[in-house]
Amino acid sequence: MKQLKNKHFVLGLTGGIACYKAAELCRALIKEGASVQVVMSEGATQFITPVTMQALSGRPVFVSQWDPREGNNMAHINLSREADAILIAPASAEFVAKLLHGRADDLLSLMCLARPIEQVPMIIAPAMNKEMWANPATQRNIEQLKADGAFVLDVAAGDQACGEVGDGRMLEPEQILEGLRAHFTAKVLNGRRLLITAGPTYEAIDPVRGITNLSSGKMGFAIARACWRAGADVTLISGLVALETPFGVKRISVTSGQQMYDETLARVDSSDVFVATAAVADWRVRTTVDQKIKKARDKSLPKLDLVENPDILKSVTMSTRAQSGKLYCVGFAAESENLEQLAIAKRQAKGVPLLVANLGPQTFGLDENSLLLVDESGTRQLGWASKDDLSLELVNEIASRISK
Ligand code: CTP
Repeated sequence: MKQLKNKHFVLGLTGGIACYKAAELCRALIKEGASVQVVMSEGATQFITPVTMQALSGRPVFVSQWDPREGNNMAHINLSREADAILIAPASAEFVAKLLHGRADDLLSLMCLARPIEQVPMIIAPAMNKEMWANPATQRNIEQLKADGAFVLDVAAGDQACGEVGDGRMLEPEQILEGLRAHFTAKVLNGRRLLITAGPTYEAIDPVRGITNLSSGKMGFAIARACWRAGADVTLISGLVALETPFGVKRISVTSGQQMYDETLARVDSSDVFVATAAVADWRVRTTVDQKIKKARDKSLPKLDLVENPDILKSVTMSTRAQSGKLYCVGFAAESENLEQLAIAKRQAKGVPLLVANLGPQTFGLDENSLLLVDESGTRQLGWASKDDLSLELVNEIASRISK
């Protein structure tokens, strides 16, 4: 399920170099299955043409409040009435100030003022020079806009078009999309602190070789994303994976099972829910050597002296916080066969109220999966679907259990 599918956005552009990113944003929204009506300020047309935005949105662009194309000549009323949200990206410092004062001297500001506040949320992606952003006037305006009910997305830090470096850049289109998805997700985990492990661990044997497994981390990252969208404060402890950190999520990168154990246990007391999706290597070599192990001339094989890694999930479920009911623990099981039977046994062994089982070889590296939920009352199958959709369902399952 794509959260933005069939949503209708009025995309407002105001003057700023970040207008070039609005073109990409418009394209991405259309790709998500949303429809987009572009409205531009005069200033925005200095940076990008209405022709470009019309071609990308597939609709004529509106700039002037005197545009005669609307039958009743009331574009400022008509355009917002059919919108699920107005998204201003980029929102310049001037436009933010204008919104704050309820000024309405062009079509875009007029339309924002005339929108039905309860039905049509206004989401703002500011973009400006770092000094303009840091100026007390802008900060005051942003705070007041939030208090007035606008949803203000963060700004990014980095190189600015003016050559300076700092806060104030507009978020990248994919990050704005993520902000929109979160906006349309029920906040069932609002204020909850989620701790999630994900990906494989890598247990070094020597500087070039190690023991690891085929976990891609995609399921754990999807769960982290879904939790953030649902309003949680998310910390993701991840092994070596080739995945971008989900927007809004705090990521801690680790390599070995011992590091994952240390980082996880250090955060148990400041978490409300723990989800263990990581494929922790069961064994590591007792002693890692500093130099590459060479093949022996007599062809004798190296002996690997293995020891068991600490069981992170088990240790967390045994912690005082979990035992006192302040930390809700969810385990995963990656099996290759007999899923239901092994999952029921694993739930008992790990001492978790909820265990989520999947067939590892069937899903490693893919964007889809199917999950079997096992709790005290029995099992429930979530059929083959995208890991994002499954995560959304899982988040709802977790939320309903912790709110009891
Ligand atoms: N787990 C963990 N620490 C470990 C091993 C596993 O935290 N050292 C967690 C996993 O993140 C998962 C659950 O325990 O949530 C089950 O992991 P799985 O690999 O399916 O099972 P194991 O406990 O390793 O048992 P086995 O390999 O015998 O199936």
